Amino acid sequence: MSLSEIEEKLHKMESEALTSIDEAKSSEEVEALRLSLLGKKGELTNILQGLSGLDKDTRPIVGKRANEIKVKVQEALDKRKDDVFNLALEQKLAQEKIDITLPGNRLALGHAHPLSQITEEIIDIFYGMGFSVADGPEIETDYYNFDALNTPSDHAARDEQDTFYTNISPETLLRSQTSTVQIRVMEKGKPPFRIIAPGRVYRNEEVNARKYPLFHQVEGLLIDKDVTFGQLKGTLNLFIQRLFRSFGKPIQTRFRPDFFPFTEPSAELDALCPFCDGKGTNCRTCGQRGWLELLGCGMVDPAVLQAVNIDPEEYSGFAFGMGLERLAMLRYGIKDIRYFYSNHMDFLRQF
Ligand code: DAH
Repeated sequence: MSLSEIEEKLHKMESEALTSIDEAKSSEEVEALRLSLLGKKGELTNILQGLSGLDKDTRPIVGKRANEIKVKVQEALDKRKDDVFNLALEQKLAQEKIDITLPGNRLALGHAHPLSQITEEIIDIFYGMGFSVADGPEIETDYYNFDALNTPSDHAARDEQDTFYTNISPETLLRSQTSTVQIRVMEKGKPPFRIIAPGRVYRNEEVNARKYPLFHQVEGLLIDKDVTFGQLKGTLNLFIQRLFRSFGKPIQTRFRPDFFPFTEPSAELDALCPFCDGKGTNCRTCGQRGWLELLGCGMVDPAVLQAVNIDPEEYSGFAFGMGLERLAMLRYGIKDIRYFYSNHMDFLRQF
């Protein structure tokens, strides 16, 4: 081969190599080219190895040219490798671009059930008057639910609360009132007492808009020396004003004589119906009566104190009990007790 033929061959090889490098699309392709162009079995290596067969005038010219090509190819390979990498990166970034103007996925934040909310409020109000919260079991014996509360087994008041008895034993029942906690608290401690006890109670009632076999009560008990009915009235009046303060006007109340086995005297606390201002005309909330029954209360019967070995000559007190659902229905204007247990989001979201 003449020198010009060799030079032409080298030139062709160079331009072909540079073109194929330019066309490489990935770093793998670039590396494959590096191997085939510059590797041990590559064309350029072949030529450089064949130099010894050339005559000594041609040899340095060809050698120099081949080395130039080698360097050029190396540079082109390195540059292409960078370019391919940057190109891939740009593509990736373009694909993964985040549109920060799109609205995010909202996580709905839950909140407490209206019954829990009103329980918290009631606890808060009584905390403010120095009461603390007490608790008792929902599965009770008839001693705590009735006997110790001055309601012996032949007492007519037992029939008023249609009680669920269990098959655990003839005495075991689901408490029908939170008044049980009065006994449990007084049994364990020493007077004075000032507690409220919110909790679930059960009665065998047919379900309708106002009744449900499971509902909630808040019990209250205050035992101390020289407690008066006036203090009972003051405490409950203040409580009612605070609970219904969202009505924006004072709630007029009255204490109407009633009967409970565990209090003497006993009373029902009524509120002048805030929905019809006591007029009653066409008012469904108060059933046209003009007054709403809010809770039962009274001075603790000496027999109850005696049952827990507290001397009624030394101590006296008052007690009260209210239905939570009923208060919540009045407070929020809810017409059907079943909403509380239906888990309808449309209902719950309103609170
Ligand atoms: N436990 C009564 C009931 O469920 C409510 C009640 C009335 C509780 C008078 C009291 C009270 O503590 O003094 O109907």
